[in-house]
Amino acid sequence: MRNPVIVALDVPTAEKALSLAESLAPVVGVVKIGGELFTSAGPDIVRRIRGTGASVFLDLKFHDIPNTVAKAVAAATRLDVQMLTIHASGGLEMMRAAEESAQETARQAGRTAPLVLGVTVLTSMVNNTLAEIGAEPNVNRQVERLAVLAVKAGLRGLVCSPLEITALRQLLPESVQLIIPGIRTGSEKADDQKRTLTPKEAIAAGATSLVIGRPIYAAENPRAEAETILHSLS
Ligand code: C5P
Repeated sequence: MRNPVIVALDVPTAEKALSLAESLAPVVGVVKIGGELFTSAGPDIVRRIRGTGASVFLDLKFHDIPNTVAKAVAAATRLDVQMLTIHASGGLEMMRAAEESAQETARQAGRTAPLVLGVTVLTSMVNNTLAEIGAEPNVNRQVERLAVLAVKAGLRGLVCSPLEITALRQLLPESVQLIIPGIRTGSEKADDQKRTLTPKEAIAAGATSLVIGRPIYAAENPRAEAETILHSLS
């Protein structure tokens, strides 16, 4: 079975990230590098984590004009990341430019194009947050609208909340990959994730992969926790 566990290394230093990546690379599918780690440790952390044998998900959520996003995606592709994120609210042309850039840069480098994932509505946003910025003031409708637009632009995957999986699975082609954060096993302490599913529930609902941060990296034994999660899926 392909390993659907993506561990989010939301830690501040390269040393901490690297030691976690070394111990987790054999038991997780992908390692996610976010804004904090990338901004403090730079692109070298991507190379070093790739050096452990782990696949990398660069979660920088690009949102800019199409030309600028295309260039950032090309740079990420040359860094040899396997997944990356862009904001779907950047629009159809921006998403098309990102996907084309990933495909073209990977072709030139002789490697497989990274999976460009569209982020629809941030899970920190509620109806009123959308109303305040003048968008469709209904989170579910806005998520569906942006998801359909992302697929029209040629994106092959989306990041979405556990509560959106069922609706999006009904709406989108089966081949679209749904990458799901907000995963909790039930044994960790409560934190800021409000809408959660267990790993098994999320996969049963139609998730392709699970983004799991604190339940793994903050565990006493991160590797054992990742293994327990993986076993819970079989
Ligand atoms: O520690 P935890 O499991 O909550 O980490 C979840 C990861 O997924 C974090 O890196 C967070 O930034 C990311 N994420 C999220 N919700 C989203 C999109 C991304 O929690 N809607």
